[in-house]
Amino acid sequence: MKRKIIIDCDPGHDDVLAILTAHHYCQQLEILGITTVAGNQTLQKVTDNILKVEDYCQLDYPVYMGYDSPIVLKSEPQPLAHGESGLDGFVFEKTNRKTESMHAIDFFKKCLIENDKVTIVALGPLTNVAMFVKTYPQLANKIDQVVLMGGSIDSGNILPCSEFNIYHDPHAAYILFNSGVKIVMAPIEACYSGKIYLKELMEFNKPGKLYKMLDGLMKFYSKYATDRNWDSTAIFDVLPVEYLIHPEFFDTKEMYVNIEIEGKYTRGMTVCDKTGRKINSITTTVMVAVNRDEFIKDVLAALSSLNEQLG
Ligand code: BDR
Ligand code: CA
Repeated sequence: MKRKIIIDCDPGHDDVLAILTAHHYCQQLEILGITTVAGNQTLQKVTDNILKVEDYCQLDYPVYMGYDSPIVLKSEPQPLAHGESGLDGFVFEKTNRKTESMHAIDFFKKCLIENDKVTIVALGPLTNVAMFVKTYPQLANKIDQVVLMGGSIDSGNILPCSEFNIYHDPHAAYILFNSGVKIVMAPIEACYSGKIYLKELMEFNKPGKLYKMLDGLMKFYSKYATDRNWDSTAIFDVLPVEYLIHPEFFDTKEMYVNIEIEGKYTRGMTVCDKTGRKINSITTTVMVAVNRDEFIKDVLAALSSLNEQLG
């Protein structure tokens, strides 16, 4: 049976790779819809981005807009990583595609009423997911699992010990991580273990409509790495999607995880108890590493196959 998923995201270069990978696996994953949230860029920009990508790649998933700012704090877009548009590196045509009129959390509600099991794949700040959990706790109990990219075990990318998605809306993460909803988390350490070498991105410098877009997008995205003399980069958001298809690629550990919402230097830190102690009954399945070669081979094969289909 196909797994029904909602992709909640802030596209974002790696969000796009994740959505394309999920689309490739449409025999196993049924994407009910795509919901957007403020994160890498403003809500309007990330929503425009997914509409343009869908148009260009001939995808037809309904898109629902969610929240345009975190629950308590202010939005902090990330032009350094994703550009002013949130998806710099490729110039898309204007699109006539529109979002659905329903709000993202009403779409979650509808999906959870109509379906027994729904997995939420969360690739941005957790504002939409947390607001849904808070507003409709009975329906939230029906969420099969939230598989998310966010947090870190003991490092950080926006602060020394905080990862961007959780940092952006720590209160949302706090609500979700304390809700009892099953969470599988891809922290940055697992994402770095699945790094892609910049030379592997040369694959996209070949003929094909999809590769043309990916080549432009990934040239911009990898500039962050080349500017720092790194030979590789992480494609963070792809991990949750690959986990659903190939759990055997991943090493995981059950941990108690909570969220720092008051720290002066630790905003949005995911405090992970690595000893395996049960502080309370709620634990999170934390990806600790991925088999890099298998993971990257699989993602590149998925994108290659989509490139061939698109011509
Ligand atoms: C996360 O933040 C965003 O920049 C990426 O899209 C990813 O979801 C990595 O910290
Ligand atoms: Ca993202």
